[in-house]
Amino acid sequence: MSDAIRAEGLTKNFGKTCALAGIDLAARTGTVLGVLGPNGAGKTTAVRILTTLLQPDSGKATVGGYDVVTDAHRVRQLVGLTGQYASVDDGLTGTNNLVMIGRLLGLGRRDARARAGELLARFDLSEAASRPVKTYSGGMRRRIDLAASLVGRPRVLFLDEPTTGLDPQARSDVWEMIRRLVTEGVTVLLTTQYLEEADQLADEIAVIDHGKVIATGTPDELKARVGGQVLEVVPADLSRLAEVRAVLASWTSGTPVQDPSARRVTVQLSKANVLPGIVRQLDDGGIELAEFSLHKSSLDEVFLTLTGHHAEEDGSESEAGKDGARNPGMARQAAGATKGSAR
Ligand SMILES: Nc1ncnc2c1ncn2[C@@H]1O[C@H](COP(=O)(O)OP(=O)(O)OP(=O)(O)O)[C@@H](O)[C@H]1O
Ligand SMILES: [Mg+2]
Repeated sequence: MSDAIRAEGLTKNFGKTCALAGIDLAARTGTVLGVLGPNGAGKTTAVRILTTLLQPDSGKATVGGYDVVTDAHRVRQLVGLTGQYASVDDGLTGTNNLVMIGRLLGLGRRDARARAGELLARFDLSEAASRPVKTYSGGMRRRIDLAASLVGRPRVLFLDEPTTGLDPQARSDVWEMIRRLVTEGVTVLLTTQYLEEADQLADEIAVIDHGKVIATGTPDELKARVGGQVLEVVPADLSRLAEVRAVLASWTSGTPVQDPSARRVTVQLSKANVLPGIVRQLDDGGIELAEFSLHKSSLDEVFLTLTGHHAEEDGSESEAGKDGARNPGMARQAAGATKGSAR
């Protein structure tokens, strides 16, 4: 199947800042490409180039087969964009925002209203339709943003950090809506700092850091590159954490890590055949377990292996940050939330 999005060797500098240092991306029609990277990695710059809002310094990109520079007007007819920051007018109602966009896209008054009503219903905003957007919650705003980008029935949709700052429920609502679009044949390029989000939605992931693609693959392939699995142990009696740590250390070559909330100990395992021995020794020591689980390395662990720093850090990581890393998802969520409101 053909590629709905293709980029080769895109570069972009802003003065002395190199935002893109030559990136290649490809998304097959009807799939989700996740572009994963920390703050300042170049995600928004890539999206702006692919949606014709910005010209690259060099390199080439096509969307739906059309060149984003020389055929920009064709590309604009194919794409929808939900930007990182809200694009709807705060003072207008939900309905009026969507109607206005429909009119700008050339729909007649009646068609524009019908399309607005349909999208508002689909995004569960019918009840709030006649309220100004400034009265909407964060989750409702992201939904109206998404709805706004769909008025023109785009075949290729660009979502720049669609769930940053949302609570878990609102986030999974947005995920559900994205999945539904994909079943309708829409191609999606999604940027995210949430490794879990890329894992949930993307068929392929491109990890970018400092304007370069540093890894590509399916979520499973990326996890496999780190190799191995992670064993997570929570004793029923938290005062016995140190003993758990010692047992894990004696059975594995990795260094067991205690999470910051001091509830669990995790360790990277290269082989699962040590598990029975660990269980037996914990049992012999009379250590009762609240949790004993094995999971594939998370994408955060992949990121750490690929870049030497966590996704939420900007390269200046500390040893404490490295060690405090169990439940990276929560740390990142918090980082995302602050970031959203900081601008
Ligand atoms: N208009 C601009 N003028 C100057 N520098 C810019 C401009 N846009 C982006 N940059 C710089 O280019 C680099 C990449 O920025 P970009 O916005 O693409 O990153 P990002 O991956 O989207 O980050 P975030 O996750 O914070 O949104 C950063 O160093 C940023 O400061
Ligand atoms: Mg950005």
